Amino acid sequence: DEDDLDNLQDRPPVLTIMGHVDHGKTTLLDYIRKSKVAASEAGGITQGIGAYKVQVPIDGTLRPCVFLDTPGHEAFGAMRARGARVTDIAIIVVAADDGIRPQTIEAIAHAKSAGVPIIIAINKIDKEGASDRIMQVMQELSTNGCQPEDWGGDVPMVQISALTGMNVDDLLETAMLVAELQELKANPDRNAKGTVIEAGLDKSKGPVATFIVQNGTLKKGDVIVCGEAFGKVRALFDDAGKRVDVAGPSIPVQVIGLNNVPLAGDEFEVVDSLDIARERAEERAISLRDERILAKAG
Ligand code: GTP
Ligand code: NA
Ligand code: MG
Repeated sequence: DEDDLDNLQDRPPVLTIMGHVDHGKTTLLDYIRKSKVAASEAGGITQGIGAYKVQVPIDGTLRPCVFLDTPGHEAFGAMRARGARVTDIAIIVVAADDGIRPQTIEAIAHAKSAGVPIIIAINKIDKEGASDRIMQVMQELSTNGCQPEDWGGDVPMVQISALTGMNVDDLLETAMLVAELQELKANPDRNAKGTVIEAGLDKSKGPVATFIVQNGTLKKGDVIVCGEAFGKVRALFDDAGKRVDVAGPSIPVQVIGLNNVPLAGDEFEVVDSLDIARERAEERAISLRDERILAKAG
C-alpha cells in the first residue's frame, strides 16, 4: 500500500523447513531452538505446522527469525504447500543416507511455485558412510531442478548433522545472507493482515487459529475477518503459549475470539467494526457456496 511506504521497517525472515519424512526437519529445529520436540511426537511423525520465533546468533549479535516446521509424511502435502506460500526462504532437508525421495521433490516444487529461494541442508552426515553419498545426493538434486552453488548453480547446499549440530551455524549464516538480499520490510503501524497456518477447536478456548502476521501489528481487541470466520481478538498467545498484547510483522501468534474455526490457508485482516467483519465473512461464505455449486454443476 501507498501509506506503507513512509513506514517500512525491517522484519524478521520467515524460514520454512521442508523435506521427506524422517529426514531430520524437527531435529534440526530442536537443535536451533535447544528444544526436544521430535522425541515427544507420536510415532516420531510431525502432524502439524509448528511456528517458532528464534534469536539466531550471527557474528556475535542475535537476529530474530521465524521458523516453520512442516510434516514430511506424504499425507500432509497441503501443509507443505501452505508453509511454502507464507515463507521467505525454503530450507529443504535431505538425509544423506536416503537421498532424494518423493516429498523432497514435492517440497522443491512447492518452493518453486511459491517463488521462494531454496537452501538445501544435506543432513545426517554424522552417519557412517554418509560422506560417500554426498556427491550422489547433489547429483540427484541437480537433476531435480536444484543446481548446487558449488557447481555454478544458484542453490546453496550445506552439509549438516541436526543431531550433533555440526555445521548448523553455517546453514544459519547462509540463510541470513539469503534473507539480507531480500531486504524484507513491513509497516508495523498499519492494521494487521496475514495468513492462517493452523486452526482448530479447543475444548476450553473455542475456535483457535495460528496466524502469521505478514504486515502491520495485530493487537488484542482488534476486529478481524478471516475467511468465513470473524470476531474480536480476545487473547493472543506467543509460540511458547504466553499471553501477549501484540504481534508484529512475521510473528506467529495464536488467536482466540473468532466465531468459527477458519480454514488453514485463509487470509485474515483487521477491519474497523464487527458489522464490517460480519458482512465480509458472509460475502465470503456466499461466494464459496457459489463456487461449490458451480464446481458441482461443471
Ligand atoms: P517428519 O516431520 O515426521 O517428516 O520427520 P522429520 O524430518 O522431522 O525427522 P525427525 O527430526 O523426526 O528425525 C527422524 C529421525 O532421524 C530421528 O530418529 C532423529 O533422531 C534422526 N535424525 C535426525 N537428524 C539426524 C542426524 O543429523 N543424524 C542422525 N544420525 N540422525 C538424525
Ligand atoms: Na519424524
Ligand atoms: Mg518433523
